[in-house]
Amino acid sequence: MKSYTPYSGRDESCLVQGESGLYYPGVRVENISFPLSISAIQAAVCSCLGNGDQPINVYKFNSESELFDQWVREFEMEIVTEEPQNPNLFNPVRDSSTDIPAALRELTEKTVTIHSDFPVAALLDVGEGLIEGVNIETNIWSLGLCAERVAIARALAAGFTEFKSIHIYAPKGDFCSPCGACRQVLAEFMPTRTAVLHHGDGTLSKHNISQLLPLGFTSGTLKK
Ligand code: THU
Repeated sequence: MKSYTPYSGRDESCLVQGESGLYYPGVRVENISFPLSISAIQAAVCSCLGNGDQPINVYKFNSESELFDQWVREFEMEIVTEEPQNPNLFNPVRDSSTDIPAALRELTEKTVTIHSDFPVAALLDVGEGLIEGVNIETNIWSLGLCAERVAIARALAAGFTEFKSIHIYAPKGDFCSPCGACRQVLAEFMPTRTAVLHHGDGTLSKHNISQLLPLGFTSGTLKK
């Protein structure tokens, strides 16, 4: 598993096991705006919760994740010290021929919206398929993730790095529109690609991601 750490060079990945027995990989996903970075355990736990599963234990391959102990406590996970052999991995990939509006509608059932009751679903086209993402809310609001970022984190953990377009659906929004933080994350991975926004009334609109974030934060000096 390869993390995305162009700013720190600090490789970080883990495997969270869910109650179902499935394993959810997570890798560190940095962002040029450092506070938007996703830790490996945050990615793995959100992936697990977004599959209707409950995290029960975690194995970490390398360095400490940010707030690692906080996550372990919050979900009463056990830290496993032996690497799982041939883990049965969760597969977040849908076939490219999937009916996208129908899949987005179906995906909203996997969202975890304990505070907002505002479901958001995303499908990230990685060429070989579509990666599912749903929004995840936790007791600590700032530890949750938007649907777009769950899809990106799952894609990277699964080894995909070519992102072609992203479909986003927010049935309760008047006009579905990604938040500023997601725009910054999308701009990091796919600035010239398209975001397809599926609105609550069944219409859709397509937007170039760089146009969604005019004058977004960037700097050539931050990469290691
Ligand atoms: N949300 C997303 O999933 N994506 C966005 O781009 C905007 C916001 C989620 C996060 C939270 O679970 C809920 O919508 C309300 O903020």
